[in-house]
Amino acid sequence: MSTTLEPDGTHEGLPAYHFDNRLGGPLLSHHDRWDAWARTHAGFRSTVARGFWVVTDGPAVQEALQDWRTFSNKSVTVLEPDPRFLWIPEMLDPPLHGTWRRLLGKDFSPHAVAAREKEVRQVAGEMIDRIRDDGGADVLDEFARRFPTLIFMRIMGLPEDDLPTFLHWVHELLHLSHDEDPDAARQMAAMNAVSDYFEEQIAQRRETPRDDLLSRAMTWRIDGEAINDRDLHAFCILMFQAGFDTVPISIGWALYHFATHPDLREAIVADPSLIATSVEEILRVYSFVVPARKATKDIEVGGCPVKAGEMVMLPLAVTNRDPERFTNPLEVDPHRRTTNHIAFGSGPHRCLGSHLARLELNVAVEEWHKRIPEYRLAPHQNLEQHGNMYGIKQLRLEW
Ligand code: HEM
Repeated sequence: MSTTLEPDGTHEGLPAYHFDNRLGGPLLSHHDRWDAWARTHAGFRSTVARGFWVVTDGPAVQEALQDWRTFSNKSVTVLEPDPRFLWIPEMLDPPLHGTWRRLLGKDFSPHAVAAREKEVRQVAGEMIDRIRDDGGADVLDEFARRFPTLIFMRIMGLPEDDLPTFLHWVHELLHLSHDEDPDAARQMAAMNAVSDYFEEQIAQRRETPRDDLLSRAMTWRIDGEAINDRDLHAFCILMFQAGFDTVPISIGWALYHFATHPDLREAIVADPSLIATSVEEILRVYSFVVPARKATKDIEVGGCPVKAGEMVMLPLAVTNRDPERFTNPLEVDPHRRTTNHIAFGSGPHRCLGSHLARLELNVAVEEWHKRIPEYRLAPHQNLEQHGNMYGIKQLRLEW
């Protein structure tokens, strides 16, 4: 993928591009492209499949995310306006969405997350200890992907021996290029395997409840009714999608950034109190989530004349890298005073796991630099990133 796209004509007076967000590309190519589009227009049409609108105006993205009445979560995938699946709570609109959020809130509250800090720190420290004498590693495979996945499995009460299987499923589901999986058969096989796995986990807990989130969810009531297996399953699938790839991607960008900015790395090693703002800045500058919504009525957003039923893509990167909102927006500045980024989204669907994600990211960066303060990119590697969510594919560091 090149960083620029030739226009593919116009659509209702706006530029059209054959823009397919599923495609990977060279490192930061997606971010460069969003910056270029944000400079030239507020929105455009993608001609991929049945077509969809893409908003590239920072404030308009945030406003749309907050306006759930107009921009519904009934579909959150631009290529599937009428999805055959349901992810809970992501694909619910208020008021049912709010009920689920209240029920889930306890397990993901700042208090509940803080209670896990010791365990989170221990897991991170042990994983880094295992590679610190190796002089180098693929830090995504050896650390960034394993650490948060293991924590998440513990929260859900899933057997830790299944970690390699989970990492394999995440790869098959989210990281295959078009060439590796031209007809999406491998992706489908992984989705079916994940689905079967959670069906079995739910059945086991119906028989013998345990002290975990999934068992607790079985005791909840919505409008006086217990939650059925189908909805529990939809919840598990969403947690898998939301919880397994996002923190690894962020740790990858953090280590990449510190490896390529030695001054900042030395500053956080000398003064670890700079880590928290640096982490926020990395979340902002390398924003990688691209939410989508389905319009419930005809509406103009970012200059796009959206019709009821059409899909709209709302990339967070354009808001978080908007020069009107942030001075020197592409700079990771540990002394920046404003941290009002929207890397965790905005509006009713703002990330439920943000406290956990922040803890894991801060702990990962702190524990890493206590043990491996000096490192650099290994030579002779071709750095690329995935499509959909812009995580680095492989990142080899040496120290
Ligand atoms: C750095 C890591 C993370 C980032 C950047 C991130 C980002 C996001 C964003 C942008 C959304 C909103 C999507 C939308 O508007 O359609 C979201 C939703 C969500 N996230 Fe995260 N996330 C992260 C980590 C996590 C973790 C660790 C968990 C759980 C363990 C989690 C659970 C969720 C859930 C359940 C939702 C859906 C909330 C709802 O629909 O009300 N996230 N996340």
